[in-house]
Amino acid sequence: MFTAEGPRDADVMVSDGVITRVEPNLPSSARVIDARGRYVLPGAVDVHVHSRDPGFPEKEDFETLTAAAAAGGVTVVLDMPNTVPAVDSAGALESKAALARSKARVDFGLWGIIRSSSTSGQLESMAAAGAVGFKAYLAYPFSLGRKQVLSHAPADDPDIEPPADYGTLARLAATLARIGLPVAIHAEDPAILAAFRRPLSGYGDLLESRPPEAEAVAISAAGAIARDAGLHLHIAHLSSAPGLQAAEDAIGGGARVTVETCPQYLLLTERDFERTGTAMKVLPPVRTEADRLALLDGLRRGVIGIVSTDHAPHTDEEKALPFEQAPAGSPGVQTLYLSCLQIAKEIGDVWLAPRWVSRAPARLAGLEKSKGAIEPGFDADIVIVDPGGRTRVRAAGMRSRQRHGALEGHVFDFAIKDVLLRGEAAGDRARGRMVRPALVAR
Ligand code: NCD
Ligand code: ZN
Repeated sequence: MFTAEGPRDADVMVSDGVITRVEPNLPSSARVIDARGRYVLPGAVDVHVHSRDPGFPEKEDFETLTAAAAAGGVTVVLDMPNTVPAVDSAGALESKAALARSKARVDFGLWGIIRSSSTSGQLESMAAAGAVGFKAYLAYPFSLGRKQVLSHAPADDPDIEPPADYGTLARLAATLARIGLPVAIHAEDPAILAAFRRPLSGYGDLLESRPPEAEAVAISAAGAIARDAGLHLHIAHLSSAPGLQAAEDAIGGGARVTVETCPQYLLLTERDFERTGTAMKVLPPVRTEADRLALLDGLRRGVIGIVSTDHAPHTDEEKALPFEQAPAGSPGVQTLYLSCLQIAKEIGDVWLAPRWVSRAPARLAGLEKSKGAIEPGFDADIVIVDPGGRTRVRAAGMRSRQRHGALEGHVFDFAIKDVLLRGEAAGDRARGRMVRPALVAR
């Protein structure tokens, strides 16, 4: 069993969905799960998923997202705000919460968006309505017409609002620091992207069009604002060695910065594109072996504390478009835990995995008193893993609406056996609850 102090042998007693005792040789009770020889782990908290709900049910919805999450040992998902309508106000957050409650098979939390037009009042009311944090898409303009967050601004769209930029962050920094919730950024500097923009005929063009300097510059600039204001900056989907260096510099300079990366950046490199095709087209892009090794080292040293998925499904038809038109994003929530167990095993300490996917993410979400640990008083969100199992990622076994993801064909030396959400098998019914951060000093 995973504990904060390391692995140990023990029994867990659960009553009314909550862990009541964790000790060796507890008396038998009404229902027993025999987990001898297995890993007993806290459920994962995936801090970065895209449910596409409301807005794009053909890509995914809360039901298919959370069924995939449950199958993979993810018992809390934090959903990004680039749904349609975007989550830019308390009202939008509340209606998305009602929708998610009717469908969610695991617990969920909701991010709010920072638009270039956002006001302090909007951020404050989203926090009061239960937002887990705020996301700023520094490189993505906002389409007022379709209310969508776009990776490229169509030149002829009159309804485009410019992306939130460093000015937006600086303008709202005092409010964000006072609220205290994490401020996640999609870290790509728009000026650098503009300078490197080119037609995308192949994977090499994608890499050249989104250089790692764009990530490093965005992190440095946002890091400077975060340090001065005392706000909590969270770097989403870190993808490069220069980005990691920038995050370390910001932390070294006294900014409060947390960093996440994703399995696709830890398991794949540009060379995999030949095999995967557009399934691997994600933003920021999967880069070189040197970047991958730097990220593994950042995880090992604890600079990167969280592994999320950036689960971003699209339809098979969309992903089959020519490279330039195919939208960026890959599903991943179902393979988060297995990916991280494999990566942690290869680093030499399998018990790092629950730290990256459960304990540190629960803390980011303000859930450190209820999620992310197997301790009395915590929710009985428990994942039982067979360390002698073997799982091959196959589209046919995926619950997400986009079944063919970037990790198709990968083999993991583990198998997920049981997933409990508050003490009962997760996945069968819409039992998910909305989580709200406990606004304690973090
Ligand atoms: C995401 C999406 O499709 O919403 N795509 C992606 O490639 N990661 C957007 C994002 O997280 O940047
Ligand atoms: Zn994302």
